[in-house]
Amino acid sequence: MNFILKQVYKILDSSINSNSIAIDATCGNGNDTIYLSEKVKKVFAFDIQKNAIETTLDRFKVKYSDLKIETKSDKESSFLNVTLINDGHENILNYITETVDFVIFNLGYLPNGDKKISTKFETTEKAIESSFKLLKSGGKIIIVVYWGHEDGQIESRYLKNYLESFPMNSADIMIHSLINKPNNPPYIYEIVKR
Ligand SMILES: C[S@@+](CC[C@H](N)C(=O)[O-])C[C@H]1O[C@@H](n2cnc3c(N)ncnc32)[C@H](O)[C@@H]1O
Repeated sequence: MNFILKQVYKILDSSINSNSIAIDATCGNGNDTIYLSEKVKKVFAFDIQKNAIETTLDRFKVKYSDLKIETKSDKESSFLNVTLINDGHENILNYITETVDFVIFNLGYLPNGDKKISTKFETTEKAIESSFKLLKSGGKIIIVVYWGHEDGQIESRYLKNYLESFPMNSADIMIHSLINKPNNPPYIYEIVKR
C-alpha cells in the first residue's frame, strides 16, 4: 500500500468506531466499503457505475457465502450493515436522512476502468455540501484527490478554491500532501466539522 493510502487508513481508523455511520461516496471496486463495513455500525456506498456496484457486491458474496440481499429498488440494495447505491453522490440526500460520522471520497476514475467516467467538481461540490449537512459535529470528510490526469487537475483546482473559502467557523480543513515526490501524487483533504 502506498504512503498516501496508509495515511488515509490512519485517519480513517482514528475517526471511526463500532457505533459510527459512514458514507463511501465513491465505492469503485469496494475497497473502502469493505474496510468500513468491518469497523462501523452502518455504511452507505455510492457509485454511478453499475459495474462498480456489482464488483463490490460480488466481493461481499465471496467473503460471506450466505449473504442475504434485500433489493429496495433498482438502485439500492442492502445486506449486513451495508447499503449499496447505484447513483451519483450528488443525490446523497435522496437516500440518507440520518446523521453520519464519516464520509470518504476517492476522486478520479475507476482503476482499470473507463477514464472518461471520472468525478467532476460540480457534482463533487454538491456531494460535499450535502454530506456536510448530514455530518455530526466532530465528524470528518476525507477527500483523496488524484490530479495526475487532465480532469483531475481541473477538479483539484476548483476544489482548492472551494475549500479555501469554506466558512471558517463551520469546519477546520487540512491538507496532507507529499511535497518531495514527482508526477502529481495524490493528496488528502481532511475536513473536520465544528
Ligand atoms: C477512484 S474510483 C474509487 C475507488 C474506490 N474507492 C475503490 O476502493 O476501489 C472513483 C469512483 O468514483 C465514481 N464516480 C464518478 N462520479 C461519481 C458520482 N457523481 N457519484 C458517485 N460515484 C462517482 C467512479 O465511477 C469510480 O468508480
